[in-house]
Amino acid sequence: MDIDCSAEELGLFEVIGKSAGESGTTCYVIGGFVRDKILNRATKDIDIVCIGDGIALAHSVAKKLPGRPNVSYFKNFGTAHFRYNGIDVEFVGARKESYRQHSRKPEVTPGTLEDDQKRRDFTINALAISLNEGSYGNLIDPFEGMKDLSLKKIRTPLEPDTTFSDDPLRMMRAIRFANQLNFEIEPEIFASIKHNRERIRIVSQERITDELNKIMMCSSPSTGLDLLYRSGLLKEFFPQMVALAGVEILEGKGHKDNFYHTLQVIDNTASKSDDLWLRWAALLHDIGKPATKRFEDGHGWTFHGHEVVGERMTPKIFRQLKLPQNEKMKYVAKLVALHLRPISLTKEDITDSAMRRLLFDAGDDLEDLMLLCESDITSKNRQKVKRYLENFELVKIRLKEVEEKDKIRNWQPPVSGDDIMRIFGIGPSRAVGVLKTTIREAILDGDIPNNYDAAYNLLMEKAQEMNMTPVDNGKNNTDTGGHNTDKS
Ligand code: CTP
Repeated sequence: MDIDCSAEELGLFEVIGKSAGESGTTCYVIGGFVRDKILNRATKDIDIVCIGDGIALAHSVAKKLPGRPNVSYFKNFGTAHFRYNGIDVEFVGARKESYRQHSRKPEVTPGTLEDDQKRRDFTINALAISLNEGSYGNLIDPFEGMKDLSLKKIRTPLEPDTTFSDDPLRMMRAIRFANQLNFEIEPEIFASIKHNRERIRIVSQERITDELNKIMMCSSPSTGLDLLYRSGLLKEFFPQMVALAGVEILEGKGHKDNFYHTLQVIDNTASKSDDLWLRWAALLHDIGKPATKRFEDGHGWTFHGHEVVGERMTPKIFRQLKLPQNEKMKYVAKLVALHLRPISLTKEDITDSAMRRLLFDAGDDLEDLMLLCESDITSKNRQKVKRYLENFELVKIRLKEVEEKDKIRNWQPPVSGDDIMRIFGIGPSRAVGVLKTTIREAILDGDIPNNYDAAYNLLMEKAQEMNMTPVDNGKNNTDTGGHNTDKS
């Protein structure tokens, strides 16, 4: 078998073959590395399977390598690992392994190469190449993995029910590989996924989400997401997304299928950005629609407030899917909340103040928001899409003009919360929030100019209404609080 390896990889294989020869061990490079080399894709880690003691082989290989990489190993699992020249190399003894029903704990016993290949997930991942002297480079392919690679098919080495029941995550992997490699899942394999879908519940959410994110990072995630939906797997761990599917018709009026619309928005986003979280915002942008769906007589279907409901659902979904609970989640929730705003600016005669508000609310995420909104323009009517996109370009130009004039992005109002607390001699409280908001809103609306004096005067007016008395005249603060515009 001739595969295109780098000098480092070849050097490593030579040392492995030599060490294996010395200890009388038979060993092979197997799995994703072989698959990706044959497909001419970039490879990541190298998996070595040997008939015998994988840990001992790893140690004797490491000893011969320049820099003597450090070997870490798990005696119980018979696996060993080291990192060499940036490549992760994993050694494992060939084994028979099966998972008991309702449990993820495997029963493992030593086995032959074929036993090991049999217990792997797909035929294309079960290809092995010998590294021993004498048979070096020979391909061992008992399950026609090469044929499946050329036919672009996802098949399991054993009966699919057996392979999937050994590790139900493989159902997600089948879909992920089909999406990533642009392969087709054999109908009987897909039928087995449908049949075994509930078994995904024994898999940890972290592993499921890892696969889901790999699907999200494909060039066209809609393929994988649709397969997840049609197999029934999606409903098992992400029912909120499944709730988007379907069309209801009343009085001859229907609405679009929000599931397939969402998939299109994800693909549109993916064609312009490889940011996983922006893609998640695309996935969740309409997630509040099922909960807000109403039929208004004489008007048709509405989803009022779905962006607010979607924003609130985001943290819960992130928790449920074990996605990070950090600023990434806040970013996604923010884009979901704002996703209708740029489009609403295409409608009437829009004031500078509406533009300023969007610039202020979106801040640094404005470009991402605009990209999401542009991706959200989907319609079967090409003329309509063209018209929307043209209007959208005008909004972009207006936003740019207002930003250049007013510099409102990342702007801070000229009187800060700290100023307010000092002036009135109070601590953090609701009153501080009310006063801060009054000033900010007045400036964004263009009711008062964006400077300290105007903000201070308004503060005094509002405070009087609230029966608050200043303890400090506030005049010793000449700091302009980072505001940088003097617009009207
Ligand atoms: N494998 C398996 N069942 C799993 C996971 C992995 O049979 N649930 C086997 C496959 O033979 C796979 C190999 O272990 O090729 C290595 O697994 P992994 O590194 O997770 O996958 P790769 O195939 O290398 O692909 P990727 O790195 O894209 O996940």
